Amino acid sequence: MTPTSVRGLGWLGPQRAVELFVSLVPKAARILDAGAGTGLVGELLTRQGYNNIVAMDLSSGMLEEARKKNVYREFHQMMMGEPLDYATDSFDAVISVSVLTLGHAPASSLDELIRITRPGGYIVFSLRPDVYLDSGFKEKQDALESEEKWKLVEVSEEFKHLPKGKSDVYHRIWVYQVVSS
Ligand SMILES: C[S@@+](CC[C@H](N)C(=O)[O-])C[C@H]1O[C@@H](n2cnc3c(N)ncnc32)[C@H](O)[C@@H]1O
Repeated sequence: MTPTSVRGLGWLGPQRAVELFVSLVPKAARILDAGAGTGLVGELLTRQGYNNIVAMDLSSGMLEEARKKNVYREFHQMMMGEPLDYATDSFDAVISVSVLTLGHAPASSLDELIRITRPGGYIVFSLRPDVYLDSGFKEKQDALESEEKWKLVEVSEEFKHLPKGKSDVYHRIWVYQVVSS
């Protein structure tokens, strides 16, 4: 994907996450965009040839915005951090950008993302390095690996979320493969 293909998005998280996603996940995959927001991630995935994408968000207003993009098959209002109303092994992959963070979706959300992803499937998410260290994500991610729930495939370099902004907020993309749900 070229930078021009995401011109106007402002922040880099969706682009970086999708770049890693496409290298691993087949185009026929059933995908959950967890915390879909206005649908930027779904839009980028669709441009890459995916067409079985489900939008989930806690906000009905955000889901309405996402609906306008015409890139999702289904829309579900749910809250990460609570039990999700999906059957075990429902998805081939989950992608979640700028959602797992302070005041949004806690580290405990990862248990449910693993449950609803089939073994062998992928979970791709962005996380601020400081949140990873200070808000229970490192402990949770390590514990899930020790319990053989998932294995780390790749973690990106740190990148500035808003390359042109003054903010010094950095993110990384984490990619895990589910071992057992
Ligand atoms: C910063 S936006 C990111 C949207 C999109 N993923 C993107 O990258 O453009 C965060 C989104 O996560 C949603 N959100 C926050 N906490 C959530 C939770 N616990 N469960 C589900 N969605 C949540 C918000 O409603 C919002 O739409």
